[in-house]
Amino acid sequence: MKRTIKDLVNLKGKVVLLRVDFNVPTDDGGKILDTTRIDNELPTIKYLSEQKARIVILSHLGRPEGYDVRKSLWPISIILSRKLDCNVSFCNYCIGEEVKERIKTLPEGDVLLLENVRFYKEEEQCDMKFARELASMADIFVDDAFGVAHRKHASNFGVARILPNAIGFLMEKEINALNQILENPRRPFVAVIGGAKVSTKIKILEKFIEKADTILIGGAMAYTFLRAMGQDVGQSIVNSESIPVAQSILDAARDAGKKILLPIDHVALHAKSKTLVTTSKMYGDLIGFDIGPKTIELYKQELDGAGEIFWNGPMGMYENKAYRNGTQSIAEIIAHTKAYTSVGGGDTVATVNLFGLSHRFDYISTGGGATLKYLEEGSLPAIDVIQEKIL
Ligand code: 3PG
Repeated sequence: MKRTIKDLVNLKGKVVLLRVDFNVPTDDGGKILDTTRIDNELPTIKYLSEQKARIVILSHLGRPEGYDVRKSLWPISIILSRKLDCNVSFCNYCIGEEVKERIKTLPEGDVLLLENVRFYKEEEQCDMKFARELASMADIFVDDAFGVAHRKHASNFGVARILPNAIGFLMEKEINALNQILENPRRPFVAVIGGAKVSTKIKILEKFIEKADTILIGGAMAYTFLRAMGQDVGQSIVNSESIPVAQSILDAARDAGKKILLPIDHVALHAKSKTLVTTSKMYGDLIGFDIGPKTIELYKQELDGAGEIFWNGPMGMYENKAYRNGTQSIAEIIAHTKAYTSVGGGDTVATVNLFGLSHRFDYISTGGGATLKYLEEGSLPAIDVIQEKIL
């Protein structure tokens, strides 16, 4: 079990370097579209502030190549000021004299937010000289950035190797929720996996063949599975190179006595005439973009009887309203079951928010890639490097 901030004593006056994931969605001009990741971080910041620590926050935003004003964390300092009782100030740098001076005068219980750490190329290279510079400014490191814990970067993996450390409340919550899925799911456990490419979901599907009772597959990747089963899928997108993998996943599920269900009907477009049809039979120039009503009904029967459900990946091309019904229906069915429900992955969380259903899910992971990787591997590099709790 990892050491948490509750295990840290005498924080009064200590400089705590807090790594968070404020990688919030923004529009092209840099306007923040959703503050969920900021809201989820408040309990850790509030606790550290109550303990009278001097809190220095580090985060990335986007994938900038050098300085980009649209990726500055400055607007987040304004949002934080509104949401917290303590003072929040902002510094244009992550390292250097100015940062050191600002920390020297930072009052107990207050927050200093540093600029986007990815403006420094050393961050993603996990440059240990850069990590040492970050670490030299603080007494303790707290990692609460679950969303980026699958990356070995200087501000999470690197700094944790240098400073005494612990995880924050959000990281702890994520680890407990995902361990629950891996170690003790309520039965029957149904995993709903969608998305475009089989290649990005191979490991998670293999993991769920081990852990789940039933897997429901949707999204464009379903067509690679249907082709692997020898079915005609018309001109739907098939990742030919993944057909053997899809075949071996189907074989592994059969050998393990697990159920994998695939779409039995489709909302599809005739490529030439551009007419939309709902059909059980794919052929010719038909391209499938969503699951059909019979599939929704079939999946509903499994979901209604589930004890636990984990969902990752849309059922169709939900961005286009004509192909949204499958994803929206499955989201609503999951949201209204009696099962314990969790959802992970950036796109899937966005769809749950889009349909206004987030309050009906038991657990919404803040991670995208990190959540899937944790479920696949049972841990992540930036978590592994944190000290164990002394029992
Ligand atoms: C995320 O949004 O998944 C995390 O913040 C990690 O971002 P990255 O994929 O750019 O490393």
